[in-house]
Amino acid sequence: APKPLDASNIIFKKAEQLKPVPDWSTLKFGKEFTDHMMIMKWNKETGWGTPEIVPMQNLSFHPATSVLHYGFECFEGLKAYKDDKGVPRLFRPNKNAERMLSTGTRISLPAFDTKEWSEAIRKFVATESRWVPDKRGFSLYLRPTFIGTDAALGVHHCENAMIYVIASPVGPYYSSGFKAIRLCCSEGAVRAWPGGTGQYKLGGNYAPSVLPAAEAAEKGFAQILWLYGEEDYVTEVGTMNCFTVWINKNGEKEIITAPLDGMILPGVTRDSILDIARERLVPQGWKVTEGKYSMKEVAQASKEGRLLEVFGAGTAALVSPVKAINYKGNEINVPLPEGQEAGPITSQISNWILDIQYGKEPNHPWSVPA
Ligand code: COI
Repeated sequence: APKPLDASNIIFKKAEQLKPVPDWSTLKFGKEFTDHMMIMKWNKETGWGTPEIVPMQNLSFHPATSVLHYGFECFEGLKAYKDDKGVPRLFRPNKNAERMLSTGTRISLPAFDTKEWSEAIRKFVATESRWVPDKRGFSLYLRPTFIGTDAALGVHHCENAMIYVIASPVGPYYSSGFKAIRLCCSEGAVRAWPGGTGQYKLGGNYAPSVLPAAEAAEKGFAQILWLYGEEDYVTEVGTMNCFTVWINKNGEKEIITAPLDGMILPGVTRDSILDIARERLVPQGWKVTEGKYSMKEVAQASKEGRLLEVFGAGTAALVSPVKAINYKGNEINVPLPEGQEAGPITSQISNWILDIQYGKEPNHPWSVPA
């Protein structure tokens, strides 16, 4: 019978020479990599092989390999953070394991035990622990990647596949910490559609977003706000989930984000923000909603002085405050406190999540020591 994924034994082939770690303050997102990578191979007959941690190296494939032709590729992004005692900590790795299983299944890649996947990642991070920066705002970004590796041109279920994990020490997305950005609403292009694959972390969802983003950048906008449908529903911002803070039509203080209706990526940061807002902001009179809302409603709220804050949420940038949204040529300004880059709810939520990630909230179940 094919073997299940098993992280209890990992083969370790140590790199002959270890690189000195860089000065953390010079890091550029995703450009620097650690000494090792982890590889887990699968074959239909034999199942999952023993995971291996090997020196970081190029991969070599037959030119007909499935990943290179039909997009048999998905990925995850998660980070390891060092706490005050120097212990690297993962943030909710089981959520990434579940999402990689769900996305992989959608593109016919093989299943695996999510606990073993998380345990393999934990052991890999322990191996590379000197690469986890010991500075708030800095972390080791992990990129698990799942690919089909059959060397055959038919469009079919892969009989060979591989998960590999690489790691990159990263700093804050913006060197000055928070920096509020201007958005441009999508026109024509959509990121996802009903029945499509927007809820999966497929590489193929990202490449088509780059051209519209580049066109928006030429006009001075940092990101696209992806709308959908006749109503111009707000879906996602750039590669992140989107949150809006407003006084809603019923006069209630509300934090709202689009629902997981098949078009929205189920972000780990998104889920964490919803949970923490329900726990800590609902008792302060806030309403927390996963529900459809449109750009028309955001524009109306702005006109009536009810729009409070807008931010993107993802693993890479954590929260990204928004200062303006261009909608059909009209600039909608999101109010910011005098001299600040983020509103109070955005800052509060960001600090709560960071405290958990860096192990400042003792024994929080989301923070897993590596
Ligand atoms: C995010 O964490 O916001 C991402 O989607 C990762 C990005 C580098 C693709």
